[in-house]
Amino acid sequence: MNAIEITGLSKQFTGKHMIKIDALKGLNLNIAAGEIFGFLGPNGAGKSTTIKLVMGLLRPTSGAAQIMGLDVSRPESRYNVGYLPENPAFYDYLSAEEYITFVGTQFKMDSTLLEQRTEDVLIRLDLWDARKRPMRGYSKGMIQRVGLAQALVHDPEVYILDEPMSGLDPIGRALVKDIILDLKARGKSVFFSTHITDDVEKVCDRVGVIVKGTLVAVDRVESILRSGVEGYVIHLQATEAESLPFAGIEALRRTESVSEYYVPCSGFNAFMGEVNRTGTNVVLVEMKRRDLEDFFLSLVK
Ligand SMILES: Nc1ncnc2c1ncn2[C@@H]1O[C@H](COP(=O)(O)OP(=O)(O)O)[C@@H](O)[C@H]1O
Ligand SMILES: [Mg+2]
Repeated sequence: MNAIEITGLSKQFTGKHMIKIDALKGLNLNIAAGEIFGFLGPNGAGKSTTIKLVMGLLRPTSGAAQIMGLDVSRPESRYNVGYLPENPAFYDYLSAEEYITFVGTQFKMDSTLLEQRTEDVLIRLDLWDARKRPMRGYSKGMIQRVGLAQALVHDPEVYILDEPMSGLDPIGRALVKDIILDLKARGKSVFFSTHITDDVEKVCDRVGVIVKGTLVAVDRVESILRSGVEGYVIHLQATEAESLPFAGIEALRRTESVSEYYVPCSGFNAFMGEVNRTGTNVVLVEMKRRDLEDFFLSLVK
């Protein structure tokens, strides 16, 4: 069974002066159980709209979505979901500990387990020292971490996170990546949005790119990266002979002992054949590739 199934999902808003905004246009997307899926798109692309539709917080104009086989119009579809909204805001006068405990009781957790899990998530999200302080005194990053803690406390199977790394410093971002990788190791399913390619590259199995309400690409991160390989810069130990063009390719650069050659993918085998035939030493092979950022920018443009 898929963790999330989205079929023909569309949302039209009526903005100022009755102007229609097609925030999401016929989205079809399945997230497999155990998969980490990154939903990548620029600001205003329709990421939060999609997430709110899947969480049942907005009604679709057309189409449908299911979580673990349950239609999202049914509250039961969310019992096994951890949700982080964009720009989370909590009760100013509750402490993180009180709030996390409150969320756990909403999920009808057993009190002994809840106490243990509350402690675990507060420690994991580096909120332990601040746990008794009212949240009105928390920084933006701390509030974001409370948001993640409340999504984790009941240890659900599916996680729907709207920009989980937003508002965090580099240490916080690394922590969130670690948490997502932990969830993956435990077989959980994660659907998260971001506008930063770097967040996706390190943790996702697959990535979908959404632009102006339309999904323009879905692929495995590794195939995107592999398809981006354009060629290699091969550093050969220089002898007198190698200061000439090697295998018909002019050197890019020469130092005293090393010559560098740019070899496109298509010429790689022939070049290496010549390297072997002449017994030349290879010092270094650098891959020249378009990264996820280039891929994303080419789609957004
Ligand atoms: N409640 C709303 N009323 C009118 N327009 C909205 C509303 N919510 C979102 N939009 C519009 O829908 C589009 C997608 O927004 P959103 O899903 O928040 O994008 P993202 O999360 O990718 O930045 C934007 O053009 C936004 O202005
Ligand atoms: Mg958003």
